[in-house]
Amino acid sequence: MGVKIASSDSIENGVPESVTIRINGQEHQVPCVEGQTIFNAAMRSKLEPPASCVGGVCGTCMAKLVEGRVEMENFDAMHDEDFKRKHVLTCQAVLLSKTAVVDYDAC
Ligand code: FES
Repeated sequence: MGVKIASSDSIENGVPESVTIRINGQEHQVPCVEGQTIFNAAMRSKLEPPASCVGGVCGTCMAKLVEGRVEMENFDAMHDEDFKRKHVLTCQAVLLSKTAVVDYDAC
């Protein structure tokens, strides 16, 4: 059982296609398929997102969900404040919307 997080209630669901990743002051749009984590999508596109445990425990991979809808299986590293700020663990977050935008620089 996971947790769903949306950046807005008006975001529509859809088959995932891409995720826009803001990191180190740059923005990259990378392909993202159903069931693929944002972290894996970033790695496949040769980005180097921060990560350590890749298991939802450490919080190193945290980014702000600016747009879109995601679901996370494990979120042990998340605190109430993180949920309020729409932060997500990118090593766990899979898209539930067609597109999403995450910002590592905002965490
Ligand atoms: S890398 Fe540790 S929670 Fe994502």
